[in-house]
Amino acid sequence: MTQGMACKRIITDGKRFKRIIDIEQSGKLFLPQGHIEIEELKGIPIGHAFTVQDRTYYLFDCDIHDFLSIGLKRRTQIIYPKESGYIILKMDISPGKKVGEAGTGSGAMTLQFSRAVGREGEVYSYEKEKDFVKLAEKNLRDGAEFENVTIHNQLLEDGIHESNLDGFFLDIKKPWEALDVVLNALKPGGHLCFFVPTTNQVSYILKGLKTHGCVLTEVEEILKRSYKLNPARFRPVDKMIAHTGYLIFSRKVVKGEE
Ligand SMILES: C[S@@+](CC[C@H](N)C(=O)[O-])C[C@H]1O[C@@H](n2cnc3c(N)ncnc32)[C@H](O)[C@@H]1O
Repeated sequence: MTQGMACKRIITDGKRFKRIIDIEQSGKLFLPQGHIEIEELKGIPIGHAFTVQDRTYYLFDCDIHDFLSIGLKRRTQIIYPKESGYIILKMDISPGKKVGEAGTGSGAMTLQFSRAVGREGEVYSYEKEKDFVKLAEKNLRDGAEFENVTIHNQLLEDGIHESNLDGFFLDIKKPWEALDVVLNALKPGGHLCFFVPTTNQVSYILKGLKTHGCVLTEVEEILKRSYKLNPARFRPVDKMIAHTGYLIFSRKVVKGEE
């Protein structure tokens, strides 16, 4: 897998225009006014401004938020940064850990787990649709820093190949139907996290977690509001994304001395 983001740059006018380019490629980058040869961009240091036809543009390295927002090709609903950052923190995903997830979808969450567990860690992702496996693999080639992801093209309910995982994240329609296999693959004390868009699904998950004796269960929702940048009339934007989904966190416990 190529080390994706190292050769990517963000070109922006600081307003609406924002584009990711690969500086290893050649050709023209068309701007709101005029164009610039990608070869020329290679000579501009990161964090510097340049001018084309009297208009100022800025060149930055492409960060993971930029890549998720405008670089990642998506054909499924993805986990957005407002949730993913919190998921990584709550599941205590850190360098060297082994984490499982289903489904892979477009690979947005996979990419972030990959970065969080680093060179010594492992991500095992389960996806039933071959086309989404290919899409996620492309997104990982473009955006991942480490070669630490294994994608299994299968139904999660058909079994998990790994064991003693530190955490497992589920973003599938009926995660409660896979609770047995997921808990078998998780180490005692391991972190579970579910993302679901509807309250009906939350109820099924809560019943399942209770039946399986999981503890420290929490249900949370994250609302994010942006602000208009006028210092004299500083106030929130008029519209916001009101709902993405619910997050359910829980921990596996083993009864007795097993
Ligand atoms: C909403 S998408 C996941 C998006 C992903 N979390 C991301 O951030 O890009 C849900 C994915 O789960 C897959 N899926 C649904 N049920 C599954 C199952 N039982 N086993 C494996 N994959 C499943 C679907 O094919 C779909 O690609």
